[in-house]
This record gives sequence, structure tokens and C-alpha cells, in this order.
Amino acid sequence: MKEKKQKLWSGRFSQGTHALVDEFNASISFDKRLYRHDIRGSIAHASALLAGGVITEKEAGRITVGLKAIEKEIEGGKFVFSPEMEDIHMAVEARLIAKIGPLGGKLHTGRSRNDQVALDARLYLKDEIFEILGLLHEFKKTVVDVAEGNLETVMPGYTHLQRAQPVLFSHHLLAYYEMFRRDTARLLDCLERTDAMPLGAGALAGSPYCLDRKLVARLLGFSRITQNSLDSVSDRDFALEFLSAASIIMVHMSRLSEEIILWSSQEFGFIELSDAFSTGSSIMPQKKNPDVAELSRGKSGRVFGNLLALLTVMKGLPLAYNKDMQEDKEPLFDTVDTLKQTLKVFAPMIAGMKVNKQAMLRAAQKGFLNATDAADYLVKKGMPFRQAHRVVGMAVAKCVKDGVTLEELAIKDWQGFSGLFGPDIKTAVAIVNSIAARKIYGGTAFSEVRKRLKEAKAEIKKGAC
Ligand code: ARG
Repeated sequence: MKEKKQKLWSGRFSQGTHALVDEFNASISFDKRLYRHDIRGSIAHASALLAGGVITEKEAGRITVGLKAIEKEIEGGKFVFSPEMEDIHMAVEARLIAKIGPLGGKLHTGRSRNDQVALDARLYLKDEIFEILGLLHEFKKTVVDVAEGNLETVMPGYTHLQRAQPVLFSHHLLAYYEMFRRDTARLLDCLERTDAMPLGAGALAGSPYCLDRKLVARLLGFSRITQNSLDSVSDRDFALEFLSAASIIMVHMSRLSEEIILWSSQEFGFIELSDAFSTGSSIMPQKKNPDVAELSRGKSGRVFGNLLALLTVMKGLPLAYNKDMQEDKEPLFDTVDTLKQTLKVFAPMIAGMKVNKQAMLRAAQKGFLNATDAADYLVKKGMPFRQAHRVVGMAVAKCVKDGVTLEELAIKDWQGFSGLFGPDIKTAVAIVNSIAARKIYGGTAFSEVRKRLKEAKAEIKKGAC
């Protein structure tokens, strides 16, 4: 029988763990991705041990050199990740002891895996949030660029997925810009909570050694330290917040995906995705499918699931650390990966889509999208809105019956519904005038959209959310 390696915590045990327990208990298969953060944290901890007089300068130096060498081994693919080592923390520590001898065993002084894993998770998430913020920035820039290319493109605006009022395609796209702006703000907010250094909490009660927590925070780039040792090791709010912010981003991506899918259908024909961002069918030669948008919509499901998974893990856990919390990692990693992948592929897809401006305009001209403008015309002439609504409703019914649009309705017919109608009703119901009239702050008027676009470009240039 193969001899098992001794566990670092095996002192009080007379029997080795069952192979099934090793397998069940181990997180190394997935938490090995934290190796860089784990090693960075350990090097900072060694500095704190040195500053606190727990180890000598020479010892700290040897520990640091050893840890850096382990990092290289992992990066070079030379490190063996065995499930017996349970997790990345134990694996690195065991390797350190193997490399530098019993001195390696001093590294864990005044530290527990409970505060260590909390530190690693925060370090990891901070890095990932920065990266995601960068991707989100690129994404917003793309949305704004496409909006700029469509400043004058008229499309039908919808409510209940029924044509409602004409809007500018740029205005529609800038609605997404606003969503992604809020997403950025949410991530920054989450970053602020993640940016607290938990080391020094020990297993739960606080370390009895003289460790300068602020020094460790400084060395690791944290802006502050956590304030309660029990909370430090049992708090996963930062991960929950991230999973929640990521879920909201995926809601937005999914809504945009749905629109892209609809717009690229033959029924709408508003856009055409480039071949590079479409896929074919194995049986139907004519098919060009919007798989990227569909998958982005679909992947939102797993991201929401990851949030719910961690909420459920955390709910009802007594203080402080419980092994249940090891289950925080896979959902977190999966959301990070999915979100990054989605943001990366989505931006070039929308940058390269062909906008069929004529089809959008044609659709905006059908469906009486200017009916509200006709009612507003009567209101300006003194008729109460409710009555005007009714009058125009009757005019629409006549148009439907005669198979004409409101623009085509003869003046005498308009006047048959109300004596207040004059020849200028023709201008009032022209689509461009319907758009131009909505110059309220935040409305779809050309002038307003232009203003907001300019602001958005400036925000992007500044890198502000
Ligand atoms: N692998 C563990 C986790 O991810 C590390 C902490 C283990 N702590 C312990 N007391 N067993 O949560």
C-alpha cells in the first residue's frame, strides 16, 4: 500500500483519514487558483512575524525565498497538488517545510487557515474586481461608440413588446450605458467592503502574538483592517455582494442579449451580426444563429445560481468559521470566469453588428407610434388629455379600417374627429418631430441624446463610472 503523507494537523489522531474523506474534504482541486494570493499573504505574514520579534531576519528571509520558489514551481507546472494536502494553504506550507526544513513550520505561528483563507479570498476578489471593472469600462465604451454611430437612427420604442413611441437607437443603447454605469458603481462599492485585511484574527479570537496588522495591510495594499476577529473569519458578505453585483450585470447582459436575438431575427431585421460572431446549424444550411447572445442570456442562470448557492451556505451558520464556508469558492470562481468571458466576447460582437437603419425606420413608421403626438397636438389647442386620447383613438381605428397611417390621413378626416385639427397636424405627427418634441431632460430628442452622449464620452475618458 502506498504510504500516506502525514497531515500537518495529525498530532492528536491515531488513524489516518479515509480516502473518501480526503477526497470529500479537499478543496485543493479548485482553491489552487489562489496560490499567488496565498503566497503573497504568507510573505506579508512572515514580515509581521519578523516585526513582532517572533522570527529572526534570517528566518524571515529564508521563508520568503522558499515561498517565492514554491510560486515558481507552481507556475512552471512542477508542483504536485495532492488531495491529501486538503487545500492550497496546507499544500504550500507542507512544501515549504519540505524545502527549508522545520523552519517552514514557524510560518503558521499566530495564524489560522481561517484568517488565511479569508485573506486569500479578499486578495483574489480585489484583483478580479479590478479586472472586471476594466472589462466593463471597455464594454461601456463600445456601447457608447455604437450609440454615436446611430445618433439619428430612428427605431420603434416598445412597451409590452408592442410598438409604442419612436425613439433613437442611440437613446436605446444609452439606456444600457446607464445600467452598466450603475454596475460599475456597485462593483466599486463592493470593492470598498472587500478591501479590509482580516489576518491577525487567528482561528477566531485574535492572535496572541504581537502582529502589526496595519503593516500587513499596507504590505498587501489593503486600505484598512477588519475590526472584529470573529467577524473577520466568518464574514463572506464581500463575496455575496460581488455575486449579487455580478448577477445584476448578467441581468443587463441578458436583457441586451434578448434584444439582439430579437433584432437579428427575420421578423425584426434591425441588425445583422457579423459572421465571426454567429454560428451555423448542423442541418439547416441557411441558418445564422446568435449563439453568443443566447449563451450570455443562458449563462445568467448559473451566475444567479451561484449567488443563491452562497446565500444558502451562509444562512444559519453559527459564528465563527464553519467548513461549510469552503463551499464559497466554486460559485465565486465560476461567476468571475463567466462574467469575464461574457463581457469579453460581447463587446466586439456589438461593435461589429450591422445596423439596418432603414428597417428600423420602416418599423417606426408602422403601428401608429405617433398617436400620442396627435393627442398632444389637441392638448396644446386646449382639449383635456383624456378627451384627446379618445379622439385620436377613433382616428387610429379609422386608419386601421382604411389601411393607412396617421401621416396619410386626410385633413378633412382629422377634422371630422375634431374641429381643433388644422393642416399643421401633418407636421405634428411626423416621426422626426415626435422624437424632437421629447426634449425633456433624459428624453429621446436628438438634442438631449447628443448631450448625454457627450457626457458619457467624457465619463469614459475620465474613467469615471
Ligand atoms: N479550505 C478551507 C476553506 O476553504 C480553509 C480553511 C479551513 N479551516 C479549517 N479550520 N478547517 O474554507
